[in-house]
Amino acid sequence: MLVEHLETINSSVAQFAADVHAGLDRPGQKELPSKYLYDSIGSTLFEAISLLPEYGLTRADERILRRHASDIAELLPSPLIVSELGSGSGKKTRCILEALCKREAISYYPIEISATALASCERELAGIDCISIVGIEREYVDGLREVANRRAPGAHLLILFLGSTIGNFDAGADQRFLQRIRDILLPGDSLLLGADLLKPLSQLIPAYDDPIGITAAFNLNLLARINRELDADFNLRQFEHVARFNEDTNSVEMHLRSKESQTVTIPRAELMVRFSHGETIWTESSHKYSESEISILAGASGFRCEAQWTDVEWCFAENLFIAV
Ligand SMILES: C[S@@+](CC[C@H](N)C(=O)[O-])C[C@H]1O[C@@H](n2cnc3c(N)ncnc32)[C@H](O)[C@@H]1O
Repeated sequence: MLVEHLETINSSVAQFAADVHAGLDRPGQKELPSKYLYDSIGSTLFEAISLLPEYGLTRADERILRRHASDIAELLPSPLIVSELGSGSGKKTRCILEALCKREAISYYPIEISATALASCERELAGIDCISIVGIEREYVDGLREVANRRAPGAHLLILFLGSTIGNFDAGADQRFLQRIRDILLPGDSLLLGADLLKPLSQLIPAYDDPIGITAAFNLNLLARINRELDADFNLRQFEHVARFNEDTNSVEMHLRSKESQTVTIPRAELMVRFSHGETIWTESSHKYSESEISILAGASGFRCEAQWTDVEWCFAENLFIAV
């Protein structure tokens, strides 16, 4: 077993400042990119969210992977290298890697924007026999290009994109993102895509607004991060977490709502921003798919959906896409 941390390319404070400026200075709905939720505190809070009884998504994903790891492995060509987009802690990935390692030694490349998540993924999976891990601290597409450059002739690539992170892209952007991923792949390469399915609001809303407030802390930490890294003066007690379902897009949206009229200064983003009472910052969307929408997504982005496994306890689909 080998663990190597390939490269550290932190998204710079200057880029963070530019994105915060653009998102909070825009006319209409203020917004911040959801990727900034995952600093070290955010990644740790996300791990806690995945344990909450209300957040059935991670457990459903893991149940499917556990039950069908050997079926999935049988459908994949050999030799194979594995890369994961936004691996998080990598806990769910273990069963897939163990199933693949029964037949061949595997090189595994987790790609993460969060150094904290990447370090815990490397620790979590380092003990598997016959695996070498090369953690890549980069954004998805850049990281995947690096992996593709490292593939040996004849090796197939399996991309893991679990946890329904695909649902964090806006309508249409999910397909454009998968198309960019497909452009880096070769025909016959595979993508194992986890997608959360539409379910009753009585199940969906508590998953994003739990009664002990971990999801609220995860969301509010984004303002705390802006205070820490950009010297801003957000008073966190003057904002509250809101989770609501957008019926036009079939997405649960997370917002931060200003509890009063107020002005916040963000010196390192060269910005003074006014909030009216009740105004929100949109921080994340989690689109909920229908099963047919997933096959359409595959076709529209240069894949075919080879197999789909669903969970009965929590409507969730694991999908094996093959690049055509
Ligand atoms: C919703 S979490 C899912 C984690 C894990 N895959 C799971 O299923 O539990 C999304 C993960 O993607 C990472 N991430 C978000 N945006 C990213 C980006 N643009 N490039 C690389 N990683 C990103 C985050 O740091 C986070 O660990």
